[in-house]
Amino acid sequence: MNVTVAVTGASGAVLAKQLLRALEADTRVTGIDFVVSEGSLRVIAEELHLSGRNELLEKLLEHAPKKTRQHAEQDIGASIASGSYPSAGMIVLPCSMGTLGGIANGMAGNLIERAADVCLKERRPLLLCVRETPFNKIHLRNMQLAADAGATIFPVIPSFYNEPATTADMVRSFVDRVLAHFGLPQPGAYVWNPGAQEQNRRAGKH
Ligand SMILES: Cc1cc2nc3c(=O)[nH]c(=O)nc-3n(C[C@H](O)[C@H](O)[C@H](O)COP(=O)(O)O)c2cc1C
Repeated sequence: MNVTVAVTGASGAVLAKQLLRALEADTRVTGIDFVVSEGSLRVIAEELHLSGRNELLEKLLEHAPKKTRQHAEQDIGASIASGSYPSAGMIVLPCSMGTLGGIANGMAGNLIERAADVCLKERRPLLLCVRETPFNKIHLRNMQLAADAGATIFPVIPSFYNEPATTADMVRSFVDRVLAHFGLPQPGAYVWNPGAQEQNRRAGKH
């Protein structure tokens, strides 16, 4: 199973890091095709203090990649630019409003937009983890367009009913939900269980 991961210049670089690490560790996944946008490099530098395109993957994974292949954003001839390449689908995390607009309007102007376009035409899963606040009407229209074309709009919105204690908990639970939606449920992922929540509360665990 090959999974395509694109990281664009919206806030939330730590989520991309967690996603890549989870996919690398997942034995069901045989290959990861990874693309970063120019914009994301700036955000990754600001949020994770990691710089440069070279060795970025290794820095994000905190080890040498075993099955992740990085493609240049401008390489419109890369494997994932063709529907003949057996990709199981694509996750854009985080997805900027710029990239959302490009995908929603079929621009295919770089490898990220083209690979997403291929997913839509081949009817493969495409998760757009959009991040912006507040949304303007253009953002909302583009989300509607992308959803109508077959994408899943999976906004970067944390949940609180799982009572996250740290940012790491929030990051983990969001990425777990993304992967579960993609068909890769993660071991130890939180599942809502109202009975257990109540028991924990009575036992003073929360
Ligand atoms: C620190 C930082 C945070 C940003 N956060 C967001 C964001 O949350 N959402 C968004 O749509 N754009 C955000 N931007 C702006 C995008 O990076 C910018 O529009 C960029 O051109 C998007 O290009 P890309 O989609 O090719 O990555 C941010 C920029 C910076 C420097």
